Amino acid sequence: MKEAAKSIKPADGKLAVLLPGMGAVGTTFMAGAMMARKNLGHPVGSLTQLGSIRLGKRTDKKNPRIQDFVPLAKLTDVVFGGWDIFEDDAYEAAKHAGVMKNEHLDLIKDELQTVKPMKGVFYPEYVKRLHGTHIKSEKTKADMVEALRADIRNFIKDNGCSRAVAVWCGSTEVYIPPTDVHASVKTFEAGLLANDPAISNAQMYSWACIKEGVPFANGAPNLAVDHPAVQELAREHSVAISGKDFKTGQTLVKTTLAPMFKARMLGLSGWYSTNILGNRDGEVLDDPDSFKSKEVTKLGVLDYILQKDLYKELYGKLVHKVRIDYYPPRGDDKEGWDNIDLFGWMGYPMQMKINFLCKDSILAAPIVLDLALFMDLAQRAGMRGTQEWLSFYFKSPMTAQDLYPEHDLFIQLMKMKNTLRWMKGEELVTHLGNEYYD
Ligand SMILES: NC(=O)c1ccc[n+]([C@@H]2O[C@H](COP(=O)([O-])OP(=O)(O)OC[C@H]3O[C@@H](n4cnc5c(N)ncnc54)[C@H](O)[C@@H]3O)[C@@H](O)[C@H]2O)c1
Repeated sequence: MKEAAKSIKPADGKLAVLLPGMGAVGTTFMAGAMMARKNLGHPVGSLTQLGSIRLGKRTDKKNPRIQDFVPLAKLTDVVFGGWDIFEDDAYEAAKHAGVMKNEHLDLIKDELQTVKPMKGVFYPEYVKRLHGTHIKSEKTKADMVEALRADIRNFIKDNGCSRAVAVWCGSTEVYIPPTDVHASVKTFEAGLLANDPAISNAQMYSWACIKEGVPFANGAPNLAVDHPAVQELAREHSVAISGKDFKTGQTLVKTTLAPMFKARMLGLSGWYSTNILGNRDGEVLDDPDSFKSKEVTKLGVLDYILQKDLYKELYGKLVHKVRIDYYPPRGDDKEGWDNIDLFGWMGYPMQMKINFLCKDSILAAPIVLDLALFMDLAQRAGMRGTQEWLSFYFKSPMTAQDLYPEHDLFIQLMKMKNTLRWMKGEELVTHLGNEYYD
């Protein structure tokens, strides 16, 4: 059944895309988007740039591009900016990250050099392996938030933007579960004034963004926007938030295969995943406290997909292990191995081995672009708080309170496309009547 289309403000003017953290992922995203808008390269992996959406029945043969269906900001209207704790401009940082080749970076060198990071907010206890030098020196955490807010306002003004969106591409912070200070806006603001140690760097960025009406997506596993105080603030200020931890490499594979095993009622006794990674992210994750944040988001997916309690005989004894080893010679070229011990008819055992030689930031960059454009769309459509329809992009999707997250990639894709149809008042595709995923 068709509903009325939602009222969506047009994508007029320039959009500031602000990244806290301009490392491998951040600069690969910027460089690629700059190349794409000059037709110097193809934005492979981006649904907002390449994806289509089916409307009506399959026989209607209506499949517009997503970017022609919903009013997204154009790449040519994007202005890039961000913060980092090192002062390299985006060209230097991209070279240092070593993801894209110099022959590509040199095509857009001048433009990349104009993106100079603003000074970061950095209390080193949350990322122990880095020693930032380009950092703010305000006295309290409340002052830090105010300084970030001033950065946002100045950036928007100086670059003639009509609005902004933020995607956290900063390092993974140590694992800190929410405490009493995260209970409400009031307790959090008191905590900022008192320099409460439970308030991390990422949480100061998200607080500043939301107070400036800037939607915030969290690409790392730390709790930047999933604690009660920040969710209350997002609702109060009518700002869209989403997270957490970009779903790339191994988890992308896992959330595609696990639903297959479950759909066919095949059993699993073990799933061992290990990775070697040599970039700065790998170095940060070498610290056990930062790895703990990653482990939590990586381990959760199978529990939710397999529904152990419902299928005890198939998944009740599953042993699931995840390892990441910092191995500098590989740089950003991550290598992942999965060993899956499964069983079939009459309990007969089988094995599956996967060896994924991926490029971490090449997989993450299109996600940054899509999140920036979809979060801006959500904001203009008046959709505040947690944007669960963007679960497709996250390892550990945030949900409304008391709901469990949906990890199955194809359910996530259906949910995302149906949300776009719903925004435009188009009929939802439910796959009844012999219809399949488009
Ligand atoms: N496929 C992927 O690459 C992938 C997938 C999922 C999640 N992530 C997450 O995305 C994030 C970025 O990954 P990356 O490979 O670009 O890492 P990176 O180390 O290359 O970049 C992170 C950048 O953040 C900066 N930084 C750290 N703390 C900061 C702060 N408080 N303020 C401003 N800048 C700060 C660092 O100086 C660095 O330049 C990491 O948290 C990573 O875990 C990456």
